[in-house]
Amino acid sequence: MIDRLNHIAIAVPDLAAACAQYRDVLGASVSEPQNLPDHGVTVVFVELSNTKIELLHPLGDKSPIAGFLERNAIGGIHHVCYEVDDIIAARDDLAAKGARVLGDGEPRIGAHGKPVLFLHPKDFCGTLVELEEA
Ligand code: CO
Repeated sequence: MIDRLNHIAIAVPDLAAACAQYRDVLGASVSEPQNLPDHGVTVVFVELSNTKIELLHPLGDKSPIAGFLERNAIGGIHHVCYEVDDIIAARDDLAAKGARVLGDGEPRIGAHGKPVLFLHPKDFCGTLVELEEA
């Protein structure tokens, strides 16, 4: 079902400092910050040759990553995103296997303009999993 690793998302308390680390210390290609008000985050894309890292910073009062940063003050890996061919088929297959899809179970349009779903971290080794239709 899952195929390529699309991205790893890292929540960061200081976006400028995180960009500087990835650009200046690790020597990566780092995008300009993009505000995604619908998702409650500002995101910076770090382009690697085989995948992406997304640096996430809270945007607005109700950011979905605010609580995570309260528990992880220096930041940390927030989720991993795997690609699937058909997100509805993947959802139905996962539900039949007892995995919990977060929210109302309907795909939303994610940060890349593609349908996404999130799976409960307690079902996947303590890791929040995002599925994105490739
Ligand atoms: Co993501």
